[in-house]
Amino acid sequence: MPENLEKYLLTPGPLTTSKLTKQAMLRDIGSWDSDFKKITSEIREKLVNILMQTSNINKIKNSDPYISIPMQGSGTFSVEAMLGTFVPKTNKALVLSNGSYGKRCSTILNYLGRDNDFIDMGDFLPPDPQLLEKKLEQDPHISHVIVIHCETSSGILNPIKTISKIVKSFNRSLLIDSMSAFGAIPIDCAEIEFDALVSSANKCIEGVPGFGFVLTKKSVLEKSKNNSHSLSLDLYDQWKYMEEKGQWRFTPPTHTILGFLSALNQHASEGGVLGRLNRYEANKNILVEGMRDLGFETLLSDKWISPIIVSFLYPADENFNFKTFYNLMKNQNFIIYPGKLTVADTFRIGCIGQIDNNIMRKVLKAVKASLSEMNVKSAIPKNSIIAEREKLNSF
Ligand SMILES: Cc1ncc(COP(=O)(O)O)c(C=O)c1O
Repeated sequence: MPENLEKYLLTPGPLTTSKLTKQAMLRDIGSWDSDFKKITSEIREKLVNILMQTSNINKIKNSDPYISIPMQGSGTFSVEAMLGTFVPKTNKALVLSNGSYGKRCSTILNYLGRDNDFIDMGDFLPPDPQLLEKKLEQDPHISHVIVIHCETSSGILNPIKTISKIVKSFNRSLLIDSMSAFGAIPIDCAEIEFDALVSSANKCIEGVPGFGFVLTKKSVLEKSKNNSHSLSLDLYDQWKYMEEKGQWRFTPPTHTILGFLSALNQHASEGGVLGRLNRYEANKNILVEGMRDLGFETLLSDKWISPIIVSFLYPADENFNFKTFYNLMKNQNFIIYPGKLTVADTFRIGCIGQIDNNIMRKVLKAVKASLSEMNVKSAIPKNSIIAEREKLNSF
């Protein structure tokens, strides 16, 4: 872990990166130069390899390979690129929403003028397979279903395997926002069939912000020509240009890409997806256990908590004040994350980035010291959320 004079970002990206990643960015490189073209091609290949690491490759057709297309901008730019490139203008999409990133997909589709429907499960309940089946049965116009892999606003890990089976049984296409999950949560693309999956540089691969990427099949991409509403966010054009010229269509975030190549190599040295998952799981287990020992309650029951980020309910103690808590944590070098929910007051602590079990133990000490500084006697939350949480048991 880094000798870190900076603050630890316990957030879902930008996150704490390693010294090696930061060092890799300490040089300038020409975006048209052959060295940079080589790096772009290497990155694209390594991203596909990450997907293949946890996939049953014997079931994947050689004639229809998976490919990756990087896209400049934050993760949302790549989500918008994915929706605009893969959902044809005359088609209809169904968004499975259980948090703010699902809602954002629906907002994007509205901006793009794509007909869409929405199954809203509120703040944190998982997508309901029966509701999905019913919608697909009733509405033959829906050609694409969109699901969020880890809904980072609550931290829930959505059951994408179940969703993908249903979508496939109705012969529709699946698009996955795996922004905060790809690289640490295994996906077998032979089992979970998707048309496209999106993530970004500054999540589980542990790079810095600047671009996102989409994984898709060559056959799917070839069919998407002329779908896009946008010049700069057209994944088909981006891919064609990269294939033909080896370079990005428009100015790429060169330093971010240098850092990302280093981050990918570190991802491999750590044991790839499973290595990363192990560390994040250990971080999550220490965090959840330690916070519960202090009296905190998690928003979600264990089955649904992801090793990416965990939501905790505010303590009922009237001396608890999130702003004060945030600043006290910051003074101890930890940046935590506010909640985003409507049903309950929560805050979030991320488990991803260059953080290990030693750091997580220090986080817990800092939480304990902050509570004591605020004179919060108990971190036990109000009862009001318990009934809401019980609903999770029916899924
Ligand atoms: C699941 C998910 N989708 C989309 C985004 C948006 O990414 P960005 O904030 O980089 O635009 C995030 C960001 O955390 C996310 O977690």
